[in-house]
Amino acid sequence: MAAIKMLGVLGAGQMGGGIAQVAAQAGVAVRVFDSFPGAIDRCKGVHKKSLGKLVEKAKLTQADADAAAGRIGFCDTLDGLEGCDWIVEAVIEDVRVKKELFGKLAAMFPSEQVVLASNTSSISITEIATAAGATAGRVIGMHFFNPVPLMQLVEVIPGLQTSPAVLERTIALATAMGKTPLRANDRAGFISNRVLMPMINEAFYAWMEGVAEPEAIDGIMKLGCNFPMGPLRLADFIGLDTCVHIMNVMADGLNNDRYRACPLLKQLVTAGRLGDKSGRGVFEYPKK
Ligand code: 3HC
Repeated sequence: MAAIKMLGVLGAGQMGGGIAQVAAQAGVAVRVFDSFPGAIDRCKGVHKKSLGKLVEKAKLTQADADAAAGRIGFCDTLDGLEGCDWIVEAVIEDVRVKKELFGKLAAMFPSEQVVLASNTSSISITEIATAAGATAGRVIGMHFFNPVPLMQLVEVIPGLQTSPAVLERTIALATAMGKTPLRANDRAGFISNRVLMPMINEAFYAWMEGVAEPEAIDGIMKLGCNFPMGPLRLADFIGLDTCVHIMNVMADGLNNDRYRACPLLKQLVTAGRLGDKSGRGVFEYPKK
Protein backbone atom coordinates (compact mmCIF):
# COMPACT_ATOMS: atom_id res chain seq x y z
CA MET A 1 0.00 0.00 0.00
CA ALA A 2 1.23 3.50 -0.80
CA ALA A 3 2.65 5.07 2.33
CA ILE A 4 -0.25 7.09 3.61
CA LYS A 5 -1.32 7.00 7.22
CA MET A 6 -4.92 8.12 6.97
CA LEU A 7 -7.16 9.21 4.13
CA GLY A 8 -9.70 11.94 4.83
CA VAL A 9 -12.79 11.93 2.65
CA LEU A 10 -15.02 15.01 2.52
CA GLY A 11 -18.61 14.05 1.82
CA ALA A 12 -20.38 10.82 2.78
CA GLY A 13 -22.56 10.69 -0.33
CA GLN A 14 -22.50 8.13 -3.11
CA MET A 15 -19.02 9.11 -4.32
CA GLY A 16 -17.35 9.95 -0.99
CA GLY A 17 -18.74 6.82 0.61
CA GLY A 18 -17.53 4.69 -2.30
CA ILE A 19 -14.05 6.22 -2.22
CA ALA A 20 -13.81 5.57 1.53
CA GLN A 21 -14.89 1.97 1.03
CA VAL A 22 -12.35 1.11 -1.68
CA ALA A 23 -9.55 2.77 0.28
CA ALA A 24 -10.50 0.77 3.39
CA GLN A 25 -10.67 -2.44 1.33
CA ALA A 26 -7.10 -1.67 0.23
CA GLY A 27 -5.96 -1.46 3.85
CA VAL A 28 -6.00 2.32 4.35
CA ALA A 29 -7.39 3.91 7.52
CA VAL A 30 -10.11 6.37 6.53
CA ARG A 31 -12.01 9.26 8.13
CA VAL A 32 -15.17 10.44 6.42
CA PHE A 33 -16.43 13.94 7.15
CA ASP A 34 -20.04 15.01 6.60
CA SER A 35 -22.08 17.53 8.56
CA PHE A 36 -25.40 16.91 6.80
CA PRO A 37 -27.87 15.33 9.25
CA GLY A 38 -28.30 11.61 8.57
CA ALA A 39 -25.52 11.44 5.96
CA ILE A 40 -23.17 9.37 8.12
CA ASP A 41 -25.78 6.78 9.05
CA ARG A 42 -26.83 6.50 5.43
CA CYS A 43 -23.21 5.99 4.40
CA LYS A 44 -22.71 3.25 6.99
CA GLY A 45 -25.78 1.49 5.59
CA VAL A 46 -24.44 1.75 2.03
CA HIS A 47 -21.08 0.30 3.14
CA LYS A 48 -22.80 -2.61 4.88
CA LYS A 49 -24.86 -3.40 1.80
CA SER A 50 -22.00 -3.04 -0.67
CA LEU A 51 -19.49 -5.05 1.39
CA GLY A 52 -22.18 -7.68 1.96
CA LYS A 53 -22.73 -7.93 -1.79
CA LEU A 54 -19.00 -8.35 -2.43
CA VAL A 55 -18.86 -11.15 0.18
CA GLU A 56 -21.93 -12.80 -1.36
CA LYS A 57 -20.17 -12.73 -4.76
CA ALA A 58 -16.98 -14.17 -3.21
CA LYS A 59 -15.01 -11.06 -4.19
CA LEU A 60 -14.17 -10.47 -0.52
CA THR A 61 -14.06 -12.71 2.55
CA GLN A 62 -16.28 -11.85 5.50
CA ALA A 63 -13.14 -11.21 7.58
CA ASP A 64 -11.77 -8.76 4.99
CA ALA A 65 -15.14 -7.01 4.74
CA ASP A 66 -15.29 -6.63 8.52
CA ALA A 67 -11.72 -5.36 8.61
CA ALA A 68 -12.50 -2.82 5.86
CA ALA A 69 -15.58 -1.55 7.71
CA GLY A 70 -13.47 -1.33 10.88
CA ARG A 71 -10.96 0.97 9.13
CA ILE A 72 -13.59 3.63 8.40
CA GLY A 73 -14.24 6.29 11.01
CA PHE A 74 -16.65 9.23 10.68
CA CYS A 75 -16.76 12.83 11.88
CA ASP A 76 -19.15 15.73 11.53
CA THR A 77 -16.63 18.53 12.01
CA LEU A 78 -13.51 19.21 9.96
CA ASP A 79 -11.38 18.94 13.13
CA GLY A 80 -12.12 15.22 13.06
CA LEU A 81 -9.81 14.95 10.03
CA GLU A 82 -6.76 15.72 12.15
CA GLY A 83 -4.00 13.21 11.47
CA CYS A 84 -5.02 12.64 7.84
CA ASP A 85 -2.21 12.93 5.33
CA TRP A 86 -4.29 12.76 2.14
CA ILE A 87 -7.66 14.34 1.52
CA VAL A 88 -10.16 13.53 -1.20
CA GLU A 89 -12.99 16.05 -1.46
CA ALA A 90 -16.29 14.71 -2.79
CA VAL A 91 -18.84 17.38 -1.87
CA ILE A 92 -21.41 19.19 -3.99
CA GLU A 93 -20.29 20.32 -7.48
CA ASP A 94 -20.17 24.01 -6.68
CA VAL A 95 -16.92 25.82 -7.35
CA ARG A 96 -17.53 28.33 -4.52
CA VAL A 97 -18.15 25.58 -1.95
CA LYS A 98 -15.09 23.66 -3.11
CA LYS A 99 -12.81 26.70 -3.03
CA GLU A 100 -13.96 27.64 0.44
CA LEU A 101 -13.23 24.11 1.64
CA PHE A 102 -9.82 23.95 -0.03
CA GLY A 103 -8.92 27.26 1.63
CA LYS A 104 -9.83 25.80 5.02
CA LEU A 105 -7.98 22.56 4.30
CA ALA A 106 -4.82 24.38 3.22
CA ALA A 107 -4.85 26.27 6.53
CA MET A 108 -5.63 23.15 8.55
CA PHE A 109 -2.90 21.08 6.90
CA PRO A 110 0.04 23.45 6.38
CA SER A 111 2.43 20.68 5.29
CA GLU A 112 2.75 20.51 1.51
CA GLN A 113 3.15 16.76 1.90
CA VAL A 114 -0.59 16.50 2.60
CA VAL A 115 -2.19 16.08 -0.83
CA LEU A 116 -5.54 17.80 -1.39
CA ALA A 117 -7.45 15.95 -4.12
CA SER A 118 -10.86 16.75 -5.58
CA ASN A 119 -13.27 14.22 -7.03
CA THR A 120 -14.88 16.94 -9.15
CA SER A 121 -16.47 15.64 -12.34
CA SER A 122 -15.77 18.72 -14.43
CA ILE A 123 -14.71 21.83 -12.46
CA SER A 124 -11.26 23.26 -13.17
CA ILE A 125 -8.59 21.85 -10.85
CA THR A 126 -6.45 24.90 -11.63
CA GLU A 127 -9.20 27.12 -10.22
CA ILE A 128 -9.85 24.98 -7.13
CA ALA A 129 -6.08 24.95 -6.48
CA THR A 130 -5.95 28.75 -6.27
CA ALA A 131 -7.74 28.42 -2.91
CA ALA A 132 -4.64 26.66 -1.53
CA GLY A 133 -2.54 29.76 -2.24
CA ALA A 134 1.19 29.12 -2.03
CA THR A 135 0.66 25.37 -1.72
CA ALA A 136 -1.47 24.98 -4.89
CA GLY A 137 1.07 22.42 -6.14
CA ARG A 138 -0.44 19.74 -3.90
CA VAL A 139 -3.95 20.05 -5.36
CA ILE A 140 -5.00 17.48 -7.96
CA GLY A 141 -8.09 15.88 -9.49
CA MET A 142 -8.88 12.27 -8.55
CA HIS A 143 -12.10 11.51 -10.41
CA PHE A 144 -13.77 8.24 -9.40
CA PHE A 145 -16.80 6.65 -11.10
CA ASN A 146 -20.10 5.43 -9.80
CA PRO A 147 -20.50 2.79 -8.38
CA VAL A 148 -16.98 3.32 -7.02
CA PRO A 149 -16.49 -0.23 -5.66
CA LEU A 150 -17.14 -1.67 -9.15
CA MET A 151 -15.72 0.86 -11.60
CA GLN A 152 -12.09 0.40 -12.58
CA LEU A 153 -11.09 3.94 -13.51
CA VAL A 154 -9.64 6.88 -11.65
CA GLU A 155 -9.22 9.83 -13.99
CA VAL A 156 -6.20 11.75 -12.69
CA ILE A 157 -6.15 15.47 -13.51
CA PRO A 158 -3.19 17.68 -12.67
CA GLY A 159 -3.97 21.41 -12.63
CA LEU A 160 -1.53 23.92 -14.09
CA GLN A 161 0.10 24.29 -10.66
CA THR A 162 0.18 20.58 -9.65
CA SER A 163 3.68 19.34 -8.93
CA PRO A 164 5.01 16.30 -10.82
CA ALA A 165 5.66 14.55 -7.47
CA VAL A 166 1.99 14.91 -6.47
CA LEU A 167 0.90 13.53 -9.85
CA GLU A 168 3.19 10.54 -9.37
CA ARG A 169 1.95 9.93 -5.80
CA THR A 170 -1.67 10.15 -6.94
CA ILE A 171 -1.12 7.56 -9.64
CA ALA A 172 0.53 5.31 -7.02
CA LEU A 173 -2.35 5.74 -4.56
CA ALA A 174 -5.05 5.05 -7.16
CA THR A 175 -3.17 1.92 -8.20
CA ALA A 176 -2.81 0.79 -4.58
CA MET A 177 -6.58 1.26 -4.22
CA GLY A 178 -7.01 -1.38 -6.92
CA LYS A 179 -7.98 1.11 -9.62
CA THR A 180 -6.51 1.97 -13.00
CA PRO A 181 -5.40 5.62 -13.09
CA LEU A 182 -5.50 7.37 -16.46
CA ARG A 183 -4.39 10.94 -16.90
CA ALA A 184 -6.34 13.77 -18.48
CA ASN A 185 -5.49 17.45 -18.67
CA ASP A 186 -7.43 20.17 -16.92
CA ARG A 187 -10.10 21.21 -19.42
CA ALA A 188 -13.75 21.38 -18.38
CA GLY A 189 -15.22 17.86 -18.25
CA PHE A 190 -11.73 16.35 -18.63
CA ILE A 191 -12.08 13.29 -20.93
CA SER A 192 -14.76 11.14 -19.29
CA ASN A 193 -17.54 13.70 -19.13
CA ARG A 194 -16.48 15.53 -22.28
CA VAL A 195 -17.19 12.36 -24.23
CA LEU A 196 -19.97 10.86 -22.09
CA MET A 197 -22.19 13.90 -21.47
CA PRO A 198 -22.67 15.02 -25.11
CA MET A 199 -23.66 11.42 -25.89
CA ILE A 200 -26.23 11.46 -23.09
CA ASN A 201 -27.40 14.94 -24.16
CA GLU A 202 -27.84 13.70 -27.73
CA ALA A 203 -30.03 10.86 -26.47
CA PHE A 204 -32.33 13.50 -24.89
CA TYR A 205 -32.42 15.44 -28.18
CA ALA A 206 -33.30 12.24 -30.04
CA TRP A 207 -36.13 11.59 -27.57
CA MET A 208 -37.31 15.23 -27.72
CA GLU A 209 -37.38 15.15 -31.53
CA GLY A 210 -39.37 11.93 -31.49
CA VAL A 211 -36.71 9.83 -33.19
CA ALA A 212 -37.49 7.02 -30.74
CA GLU A 213 -38.99 6.42 -27.31
CA PRO A 214 -36.62 6.15 -24.28
CA GLU A 215 -36.90 2.34 -24.07
CA ALA A 216 -35.91 2.03 -27.73
CA ILE A 217 -33.06 4.57 -27.46
CA ASP A 218 -31.58 2.69 -24.51
CA GLY A 219 -32.28 -0.74 -26.02
CA ILE A 220 -30.55 0.23 -29.27
CA MET A 221 -27.42 1.40 -27.45
CA LYS A 222 -27.37 -1.61 -25.11
CA LEU A 223 -27.94 -4.29 -27.71
CA GLY A 224 -26.18 -2.57 -30.59
CA CYS A 225 -23.18 -1.09 -28.79
CA ASN A 226 -22.92 -3.36 -25.75
CA PHE A 227 -23.45 -0.55 -23.24
CA PRO A 228 -24.22 -1.95 -19.77
CA MET A 229 -26.87 0.76 -19.39
CA GLY A 230 -28.53 2.87 -22.08
CA PRO A 231 -27.66 6.60 -22.08
CA LEU A 232 -31.02 7.64 -20.61
CA ARG A 233 -30.88 5.03 -17.83
CA LEU A 234 -27.31 6.15 -17.13
CA ALA A 235 -28.43 9.78 -16.96
CA ASP A 236 -31.00 8.82 -14.29
CA PHE A 237 -28.27 6.88 -12.45
CA ILE A 238 -25.90 9.89 -12.50
CA GLY A 239 -28.71 12.38 -11.73
CA LEU A 240 -30.30 14.60 -14.38
CA ASP A 241 -29.42 17.73 -12.38
CA THR A 242 -25.79 16.61 -12.31
CA CYS A 243 -25.87 16.06 -16.09
CA VAL A 244 -27.21 19.60 -16.66
CA HIS A 245 -24.62 20.98 -14.28
CA ILE A 246 -21.74 19.23 -16.06
CA MET A 247 -23.02 20.42 -19.46
CA ASN A 248 -23.13 24.00 -18.12
CA VAL A 249 -19.57 23.76 -16.78
CA MET A 250 -18.39 22.49 -20.18
CA ALA A 251 -20.34 25.11 -22.17
CA ASP A 252 -18.84 27.89 -20.05
CA GLY A 253 -15.38 26.37 -19.56
CA LEU A 254 -14.89 25.40 -23.21
CA ASN A 255 -16.63 28.53 -24.56
CA ASN A 256 -18.84 26.47 -26.80
CA ASP A 257 -22.62 26.33 -27.05
CA ARG A 258 -22.50 22.83 -28.46
CA TYR A 259 -22.27 21.70 -24.83
CA ARG A 260 -25.56 23.39 -23.81
CA ALA A 261 -27.99 20.99 -22.12
CA CYS A 262 -30.96 19.77 -24.17
CA PRO A 263 -34.19 21.69 -23.31
CA LEU A 264 -36.02 18.46 -22.45
CA LEU A 265 -33.27 17.42 -20.03
CA LYS A 266 -33.50 20.82 -18.32
CA GLN A 267 -37.29 20.63 -18.22
CA LEU A 268 -37.24 17.28 -16.41
CA VAL A 269 -34.92 18.79 -13.80
CA THR A 270 -37.28 21.77 -13.40
CA ALA A 271 -40.11 19.32 -12.77
CA GLY A 272 -38.06 17.63 -10.03
CA ARG A 273 -37.51 14.48 -12.08
CA LEU A 274 -33.85 14.02 -11.13
CA GLY A 275 -33.46 10.27 -11.74
CA ASP A 276 -32.91 7.43 -9.27
CA LYS A 277 -32.50 9.77 -6.30
CA SER A 278 -35.95 11.36 -6.70
CA GLY A 279 -37.71 8.15 -7.75
CA ARG A 280 -38.35 9.39 -11.28
CA GLY A 281 -36.27 10.81 -14.11
CA VAL A 282 -36.63 9.48 -17.62
CA PHE A 283 -37.84 6.23 -16.05
CA GLU A 284 -39.61 5.50 -12.77
CA TYR A 285 -37.97 3.85 -9.77
CA PRO A 286 -40.54 2.60 -7.27
CA LYS A 287 -39.26 2.58 -3.68
CA LYS A 288 -38.00 -0.91 -2.75
N1 3HC B 1 -21.12 -2.47 -4.38
C1 3HC B 1 -21.14 -3.79 -4.53
N2 3HC B 1 -21.90 -4.43 -5.46
C2 3HC B 1 -22.66 -3.65 -6.26
C3 3HC B 1 -22.68 -2.23 -6.17
C4 3HC B 1 -21.86 -1.65 -5.17
N3 3HC B 1 -21.81 -0.32 -4.99
N4 3HC B 1 -23.52 -1.73 -7.12
C5 3HC B 1 -24.03 -2.79 -7.77
N5 3HC B 1 -23.51 -3.93 -7.28
C6 3HC B 1 -23.80 -5.29 -7.67
C7 3HC B 1 -25.29 -5.49 -7.81
O1 3HC B 1 -25.89 -5.68 -6.54
C8 3HC B 1 -25.39 -6.72 -8.68
O2 3HC B 1 -25.28 -7.90 -7.94
P1 3HC B 1 -26.20 -9.17 -8.34
O3 3HC B 1 -25.72 -9.58 -9.70
O4 3HC B 1 -25.90 -10.15 -7.28
O5 3HC B 1 -27.60 -8.66 -8.33
C9 3HC B 1 -24.16 -6.58 -9.57
O6 3HC B 1 -23.30 -5.58 -8.98
C10 3HC B 1 -24.54 -6.18 -10.95
O7 3HC B 1 -25.45 -5.11 -10.86
P2 3HC B 1 -26.86 -5.10 -11.56
O8 3HC B 1 -27.40 -6.46 -11.73
O9 3HC B 1 -27.69 -4.06 -10.88
O10 3HC B 1 -26.68 -4.50 -12.97
P3 3HC B 1 -25.48 -4.52 -13.98
O11 3HC B 1 -25.01 -5.87 -14.29
O12 3HC B 1 -25.96 -3.62 -15.05
O13 3HC B 1 -24.25 -3.79 -13.25
C11 3HC B 1 -23.36 -1.61 -13.14
C12 3HC B 1 -24.41 -2.57 -12.63
C13 3HC B 1 -21.96 -2.05 -12.74
C14 3HC B 1 -23.67 -0.27 -12.48
C15 3HC B 1 -23.43 -1.54 -14.70
O14 3HC B 1 -24.75 -1.33 -15.11
C16 3HC B 1 -22.59 -0.44 -15.27
O15 3HC B 1 -21.39 -0.58 -15.42
N6 3HC B 1 -23.23 0.69 -15.64
C17 3HC B 1 -22.55 1.85 -16.13
C18 3HC B 1 -22.03 2.63 -14.97
C19 3HC B 1 -21.30 3.85 -15.41
O16 3HC B 1 -21.19 4.19 -16.57
N7 3HC B 1 -20.77 4.58 -14.42
C20 3HC B 1 -20.10 5.81 -14.65
C21 3HC B 1 -21.04 6.92 -14.49
S1 3HC B 1 -20.29 8.47 -14.85
C22 3HC B 1 -19.55 8.91 -13.41
O17 3HC B 1 -19.64 8.27 -12.39
C23 3HC B 1 -18.74 10.15 -13.48
C24 3HC B 1 -19.44 11.35 -12.96
O18 3HC B 1 -18.57 12.41 -13.04
C25 3HC B 1 -20.74 11.69 -13.63
